[in-house]
Parts: sequence; structure tokens; C-alpha cells
Amino acid sequence: EGHRPLAGRHVLITAGPTWEAIDPVRYIANRSSGKQGFAIAAAAAALGAKVTLVAGPVSLKTPKGVDRINVESARDMAEVVRNSLPADAAVMVAAVADWRPKEYRAEKMKKRGSAPPALVLEENPDILTNVAASDNRPPLVIGFAAETEDVLDHAKAKRKRKTCDWIVANDVSGDVMGGDLNKVHIIDAEGVESLDEMPKLDVAMALVERIATTLNEQDAE
Ligand code: C5P
Repeated sequence: EGHRPLAGRHVLITAGPTWEAIDPVRYIANRSSGKQGFAIAAAAAALGAKVTLVAGPVSLKTPKGVDRINVESARDMAEVVRNSLPADAAVMVAAVADWRPKEYRAEKMKKRGSAPPALVLEENPDILTNVAASDNRPPLVIGFAAETEDVLDHAKAKRKRKTCDWIVANDVSGDVMGGDLNKVHIIDAEGVESLDEMPKLDVAMALVERIATTLNEQDAE
């Protein structure tokens, strides 16, 4: 059996980028590899959780014991997340596109020798904020904050703004995106726990152990 402190728990995770279609052949994307979110899914499953992993377009193998649902756009991701509640913990790791093209062109846009088309954008739903505000709010809602400057201050503000329980802040000014190492700070209402730089799999294991401990403490209250 081993160490299964998340047995009987449902952990809902988002990971990867989203793609926001412009026309049938073009889209807006970002550099998220999905590695950290997939590692968290693997770690939660290894500790006995039922894991739902809502994944944007990435080329990663589904971790053992994980239920994976593939999505493309932020709106698809938001709907799948909503339909996957309730959960004991939500860990929103996806690098959701902030904006999408306001209109989708059903036919491939053509160069006509004239000026390039203007790309008009509109805001996507904030999945993390919506989960944290939902009637079905998981007891533990965790967001990520990829920052390039004033990492802790921005992340603390984000925790309050998005009304989540924890924010995992990481400094992405280096080559974190796509890499195998990560350095994170876990911020909750009490303060900051800073972890050393370590493989994303070890970050994942530390985070899910902390999730298990916190859920068990909540139950004991
Ligand atoms: O505001 P920012 O994008 O930096 O917030 C990052 C956190 O919010 C991550 O946990 C990310 O998964 C989540 N997020 C989301 N939906 C969005 C934007 C961000 O769930 N539309």
C-alpha cells in the first residue's frame, strides 16, 4: 500500500497553455510546457488521490492513474473544470490565455496585398477566480503565479484578488518555462514557505504532501 495520504480525495488540476483560435489555421498560444502541472497530477495520484487533469495542448504522456481531459481554449477549459467539481482540492497550474480573438474567422484569412488585419482581443474567463467563487468551492483552492519581478509582492496580491487559499509563486525570469527545475514560494494567509530550486517532480511532491496534511487538518477541526 505505502504512503497514501490522499486516498479518497479528488484533486482537480489544470495544466499547459490554452490555444485561442484566430481562424482554422492560426491561434494565440504561450510557452507553457505543462510539465509542472503534469508532475503535480502524477504526485497526487501516487499519494492515492483520484485525479482529474484538464490539459491544454501539450505533448506529454498522461501520468499513471490520472484521468485526463484534453481541451484547447480557455472557454473549453473553464467548462470542463466547472463540470469536474466537486473536488477536495483544485490546483490551477494552466497558463490560461488572458485574451482571445474577439471574432473567430471560419475561413482562413487571406493576404490581399493590403494592410495586415487588426487583431481585436477580448478577455477570457478567469478559471481560478471562478472556482474560488463557486458554490462548489473546494476546501483548498490553489493558484500559480508566474512572475518576472517583485515575485512575492505580486503573488500575495494575486492570492487576495483571486480569493484562493494558496498561491505558488515562481520566478520565470530564467528558463523555468519548458525546463525541468523550478524554484517556488508557497504563499498562504499565514505567510511564505520558500522551497529550494529542485526538479519539478520534487516541487510537485512537496506541494501534494502539504495539500494532504492541510486537508487532514481541516477534517480534524
Ligand atoms: O493572473 P495570472 O494569469 O497571473 O494568474 C495565474 C493563476 O490564475 C494560475 O493559477 C492560472 O492557472 C489561473 N488563471 C486561470 N484563468 C485565467 C487566468 C489565470 O485559471 N483566465
